[in-house]
Amino acid sequence: MPLNVNAARAKVRAAKRVAVLTGAGVSAESGIPTFRGSGGFWSHQRFEDLATPEGFAKDPKFVWEWYEAHRRNIAKAKPNAGHLALAELEGRVRWFTLITQNVDGLHDLAGSRNVVKLHGDIWVVRCTVCGRERTERAELTELPPRCACGGMLRPGVVWFGEMLPEGAMEAAAEAVRAADVLIVAGTSAQVYPAAGLIPLAVSAGAVVIEINPEETDFSSEVTLALRGTSAVVLPELV
Ligand code: OAD
Repeated sequence: MPLNVNAARAKVRAAKRVAVLTGAGVSAESGIPTFRGSGGFWSHQRFEDLATPEGFAKDPKFVWEWYEAHRRNIAKAKPNAGHLALAELEGRVRWFTLITQNVDGLHDLAGSRNVVKLHGDIWVVRCTVCGRERTERAELTELPPRCACGGMLRPGVVWFGEMLPEGAMEAAAEAVRAADVLIVAGTSAQVYPAAGLIPLAVSAGAVVIEINPEETDFSSEVTLALRGTSAVVLPELV
């Protein structure tokens, strides 16, 4: 086992308060593509068309077809060893917050409980007219789907240029400021305000452990960088 994993494990074991920030990379080994990099969604799709309020206003059917296909793919996915390791860690640490940019719900399925979802939830649909929200896992056959009020529904996710769910960033920042250790797994850390949690942890004096097969813009600032995939490294760490 690489030296860094042993060092990271000692830090996690000694920590009273642990925060974790995850991104699409933690679900890659569950068969869900990431956004950036080769094979990522944004390498062959324009995020402006699919993940902005303007794109949705222009062509809601196109956006919904993409989201529904994504939902069906996620519906087939199971939590991997990385998700399960984080749920196990939560059971051992008294003070634990999992902050995720993922909308796939795999952390919930793995058993994580204190989850802050910065970018919403793909299983939630929200009415663009009356604002009512509900969880909808069933296949949506008529696209775009409609609310009982007649208004068009939209995916309950955060698009570029939109506000984060109320209180989510505050809860995340509070957890990070209080944490002895922040584990950052599977995120390119290019999307703000989520990425800003990493320098926040550094300036608050936390040990920051990055798990990613690739370097990120923050790799030089973290305490320990573990180069590997989350389904392999997280179980080793926990
Ligand atoms: P990205 O696709 O930007 O980054 C995924 C990261 O995961 C990259 O740094 C990869 O190197 C890493 N990675 C790939 N496979 C991995 C594995 N098996 N284990 C660990 N790491 C792995 O995804 P995010 O950082 O989550 O937002 O992207 C942030 C936001 O941008 C998303 O929430 C989404 C996207 O556009 C919206 O749609 C608003």
